[in-house]
Amino acid sequence: MRLRIVAAVNDPPVWVLPRHEIERIASALPEADVVDARDPELRKEELPRADVLLITKLTVEEARLAARVRWIQSTAVGIGPLLRPEIVQGGIVVTNVRGVHAPFIAEHAIALALAVRRSLHVSAARQRDREWAQSEIEAIPASPAGESRMLVVGLGAIGSRVARMAAGLGFEVHAIRRRPELGGPEGVVRVVGPDRLLDELPEAEVVVLATPTTTDTRIMIGRTELAAMRKTAVLVNVARGRLVDEAALVDALERRQIAGAGLDAFVEEPLPREHALWGLPNVLMSPHSAAFGRDYWRPVIDLFLDNFRRFVRGETLLNVVDKANGY
Ligand code: GLV
Repeated sequence: MRLRIVAAVNDPPVWVLPRHEIERIASALPEADVVDARDPELRKEELPRADVLLITKLTVEEARLAARVRWIQSTAVGIGPLLRPEIVQGGIVVTNVRGVHAPFIAEHAIALALAVRRSLHVSAARQRDREWAQSEIEAIPASPAGESRMLVVGLGAIGSRVARMAAGLGFEVHAIRRRPELGGPEGVVRVVGPDRLLDELPEAEVVVLATPTTTDTRIMIGRTELAAMRKTAVLVNVARGRLVDEAALVDALERRQIAGAGLDAFVEEPLPREHALWGLPNVLMSPHSAAFGRDYWRPVIDLFLDNFRRFVRGETLLNVVDKANGY
């Protein structure tokens, strides 16, 4: 039986699977029918006929339509927008692209941390007006990396890389992971469970969030946690906006309860123009662009092709998501 692969990744402006990658799937897998269903109308028509879906989001209604699907490959890491009841409860296997863009995301996290610590966002803002901002940034509160601790929250593909890079820069790296007994990569001097977050926060000069949003991690950084952080600390979020109480963060930044934040993820994206974060001088923001780099899609589709071959041979797929845990 020919399997029908329905490619429907269409989350503009950037997360739209390019036509040439769909063609690459078709030529790599002549034994399958590959359908370009990025168009929303066609997507609705094609969902009931799909055996395999390449997609990042499904509405409740679409999840019902996709009754024949056996495997969903998400081209994202976060799979929250796919986990509708039909998908979670049914026997459908869901895989994601965990790890594929981790090198870029980790580098981005480090870049945000260093830029805010060095007040480069202020220099860049003044550069636009040809202003020599020396006096404004003279009072940077940061201590050198070699005398600072970084707390990495989440030791998956991204967090582990951040930790290794930070250790290489001289930070004393502590990490939080759900299963601390697994330890951490070389250079991490201490790994503890999420229940120790409030003990760790007061000692960190940089806190990097690299953990998925689940019922356990939602708003893991709220008022209490922000109050526990140092006045000199920088918070970096390259994961998901919902990990943080954004209103509490704005408040903490306004009152200089923490020194600054480097953010690539927000509760609402694109970040609404009227959002208070835009106006804060101690925030450096990037538009959920941490994963961008040389050829975003190619490694994603390579992973899909590898998984497809495993799927037809009845083997275990790479990056199977635990649907109950949400990642
Ligand atoms: C992007 O944020 C992703 O989940 O891949």
